[in-house]
Amino acid sequence: MIKICCIGAGYVGGPTMTMIARKCPDIRVDVADINAERIAAWKSDKLPVFEPGLDEIVREVRGKNLFFTTDVDSAISDADIIFISVNTPTKTYGYGAGSASDLSYVESCARRIADSADGNKFRVIVEKSTMPVRTAEVIRKIFTSRGRNFQILSNPEFLAEGTAMKDLENPDRILIGGDDSCEEGRRAIDALVSIYSRWIPKEKIITTNLWSSELSKLTANAFLAQRISSINSISALCEATGADVDEVALAIGSDSRIGSKFLKSSIGFGGSCFKKDLLNLIYLCDHFGLPQVAQYWRGVVEMNDFQKSRFCANVVESMFRNIKGKRLAIFGFAFKEDTNDTRESPAIDICKLLLSERAKLAFYDPKVSPGQICSDLGIDEKDSRVEFCKSACESAKGADAIIVLTHWKEFRELDYSEIIKQMNKPAWIFDGRNCLDHRLLIELGFLVRGIGKGNLS
Ligand code: UDX
Ligand code: ADP
Repeated sequence: MIKICCIGAGYVGGPTMTMIARKCPDIRVDVADINAERIAAWKSDKLPVFEPGLDEIVREVRGKNLFFTTDVDSAISDADIIFISVNTPTKTYGYGAGSASDLSYVESCARRIADSADGNKFRVIVEKSTMPVRTAEVIRKIFTSRGRNFQILSNPEFLAEGTAMKDLENPDRILIGGDDSCEEGRRAIDALVSIYSRWIPKEKIITTNLWSSELSKLTANAFLAQRISSINSISALCEATGADVDEVALAIGSDSRIGSKFLKSSIGFGGSCFKKDLLNLIYLCDHFGLPQVAQYWRGVVEMNDFQKSRFCANVVESMFRNIKGKRLAIFGFAFKEDTNDTRESPAIDICKLLLSERAKLAFYDPKVSPGQICSDLGIDEKDSRVEFCKSACESAKGADAIIVLTHWKEFRELDYSEIIKQMNKPAWIFDGRNCLDHRLLIELGFLVRGIGKGNLS
């Protein structure tokens, strides 16, 4: 029986291994993490990651061929394929602080693998986390210095949170980078291809050299983020000129060369990948003496920050330049819908700015806990400036404004004719996701502001 081990039971490792276990009933999959609380949650009824469709599959395969453990060394010891799926956050200290990736977790994994894995067996080590280009070289050096000749592959994950299970089941492509110049390298690539090809057509599996694969992941995220910053830059111009950014997006997206995806203007992109990968790319360009290229990509991050501060300025300006003491109902805190993840959520910066203007914030997010929101904002749960509500309607009660920060479907389905009755007048709606029916809201008496919509009312 083939044994797979995954180090890191996070948003990537957990769902990915669950899908592999389901598609390969003859393979044993062990997911190991040093975080005991997280592993306990994976073994319980309340999984640490919310993803539509994930619960059902975990229940189906857990205990059969999918196992969760804190015993990392045992999980590594006899695995044939070891995925490294640990976090690679942006460095906050020393050289490269604020842009380079912190590889300490990856390095500690590599050392652990070198020490715990049986060196006599053919082993494949797979980089699943997003790594800066040439990280495989670092891992290889650690292995060779300890007499290990394990094969290293790069197999970046392209799943998006909220649609992870669909993306895993039916991905646009699978990318596998490896060293095909030697027999062992080719054997490693074949081993991984043979796992994915059980449910993914062979023509969707792309194999490249290691560095192309590592760089492709950064580039894919940089291109996606760039599209969002591009349309967001146009949203500012729309507000100034009276054009409607959604109409512009529709018009340009109909050009098959441009395409319609990732053109939704918003308060800015969030999530664990986009900003981190852009910063990584910028760091690499600077490092390799390409400051003009670095500056080009830096603009994408700067535009994202501008979008958030522009949105806040619009809230303050519209509400008569004063939100001090006003109750603002915050609809959504996750970085996008259908996830409980708040990493780099634009809601964090926006709420901090609103708090600095001394507003009172009444939060409602269907999946994010009050504890998480407070930790992201760096405040105490008992802070008198914040309140946590059980429903969107409760948070809107007595509020001067509703601020939509995440486009959860349920926000589109609320009865706003009832909600307005409970609000202070004038009642504002700032739709940071352009997801509500603005015309209807105006008819109901709301003062509405969207993104890239000019003054609607
Ligand atoms: C992203 C990539 O899509 C995925 O391929 C990669 O593996 C990880 O990073 P993710 O961050 O989970 O996935 O979500 P994504 O759907 O890409 O959204 C990222 C952010 O951009 C969210 O905050 C979302 O609200 C925002 N967004 C997305 C927009 O503002 N407009 C859009 O048109 C699309
Ligand atoms: P991602 O979104 O990339 O999956 P997460 O932060 O959700 O990132 O998950 C990464 C996981 O990796 C965390 O649960 C963390 O505890 C785990 N981890 C980090 N370093 C190690 C390590 N050396 N051994 C085992 N697990 C680790």
